[in-house]
Amino acid sequence: MKVLLLGSGGREHALAWKIAQSSKVEKLFIAPGNAGTQNVGENVDIKADDFEALKNFVVENGVDMVIVGPEDPLVKGVYDDFKNDERTKNVPVIGPSKAGAVLEGSKDFAKQFMKRHNIPTAKYETFDGTTVEEGLKFLETLKAPYVLKADGLCAGKGVLILPTLEEAKKEFKEMLGGMFGNASARVVIEEFLSGIECSVFALTDGKNYKILPEAKDYKRIGEHDTGLNTGGMGSVSPVPFATKEWMQKVEDRIIRPTVEGLAEENIEYKGFIFFGLINVEGEPMVIEYNCRMGDPETETVMLRLKSDIVDLFEGVAEGNLDKRDIEFDERAAVCVMLVSGGYPQAYAKGYEITGLDKIEDSVVFHAGTKMQNGKVVTNGGRVIAVSSYGKDKSEALQNSFTQAQKIEFTDKYFRRDIGQDL
Ligand code: AMP
Ligand code: GLY
Repeated sequence: MKVLLLGSGGREHALAWKIAQSSKVEKLFIAPGNAGTQNVGENVDIKADDFEALKNFVVENGVDMVIVGPEDPLVKGVYDDFKNDERTKNVPVIGPSKAGAVLEGSKDFAKQFMKRHNIPTAKYETFDGTTVEEGLKFLETLKAPYVLKADGLCAGKGVLILPTLEEAKKEFKEMLGGMFGNASARVVIEEFLSGIECSVFALTDGKNYKILPEAKDYKRIGEHDTGLNTGGMGSVSPVPFATKEWMQKVEDRIIRPTVEGLAEENIEYKGFIFFGLINVEGEPMVIEYNCRMGDPETETVMLRLKSDIVDLFEGVAEGNLDKRDIEFDERAAVCVMLVSGGYPQAYAKGYEITGLDKIEDSVVFHAGTKMQNGKVVTNGGRVIAVSSYGKDKSEALQNSFTQAQKIEFTDKYFRRDIGQDL
């Protein structure tokens, strides 16, 4: 079959790497892809949210399945757009409908959904420009630190955690005043939860689901989780505290109620669900939902998935995911992200990347790269993910750190403490 994958980051290179290993795939296209995805498929110069151009490409090239990497096209309704077009209505799109993507697109919707289905999450209230005074009063009922969330999508920047009530009140007013544009026209204020986070992923056909290997990601730029938030500096799988018993609680209290809740509310959902969880004294609680795989978690999860991912996608498309097998690799997998100096603030692009041909024992996924005059150059803050296996986490990390030294570009930076907290 012919498969089209949408997106251009490290997550998409990892998905493309896995999809390309399927014996069912005769041709893989990636739109728009990056300098790495072209090694496992064919890049197509179409933006992931240019639905008209994507549909034309699908029709002209006889594409049999579309897989969506990032949230943006999902929240904009790529699933519905394909379905409502005579020409593409029978081409399965792996990813939720626009109504399903609201689980990520609106924090307020996600919180209401969890409340309706008794899914454990932090206590909260949502406010807008007409309820500022009520919001300030609600803040006074909470203990420090204070968690403020813009309701809409803000590329991972819409959450503020503030140490004092004064700061929380000030930022709350600024958020409602347009700090994140329309995305913060409504603000969720929630109780702060203390614990270690863990990302859990399920693939669902709307009725059945399969749980993928869990992972932990590292969001801050500095070692020991200091400094600004980034798109993710590394990840580790498995996560030691995600024991069989803990994962059973996650399935019973969170995953199954979510899939059943979506079905009950007639929300079409055929794709990945990302559960951003926190372990509060042994009990899993939901911090957030995403309607896609995590980045950089995918760069370890794909290493640990042994089964043919396209077979699983077919199960999603046909609604018989329960008939498909899912097997995991027992080894540990980790990912160490090489980023541009200065990231997540201002940084330069266009530096040549060398040493990629010297990599052994690791899998290199490109995150922000492109080809320029026949050379691979940096083209983003997060540049290259170095993913490795090991008999345990330490061995996998050792492999990634060794290989990470061989890849060179001006002002390269990476965290050397990935996985140390576990
Ligand atoms: P989100 O975009 O909802 O994932 O939030 C970004 C980050 O903020 C999360 O990964 C957590 O580290 C933190 N966070 C969000 N909500 C809470 C909460 N209720 N308690 C503690 N930390 C939180
Ligand atoms: N790693 C977190 C995310 O993909 O949102």
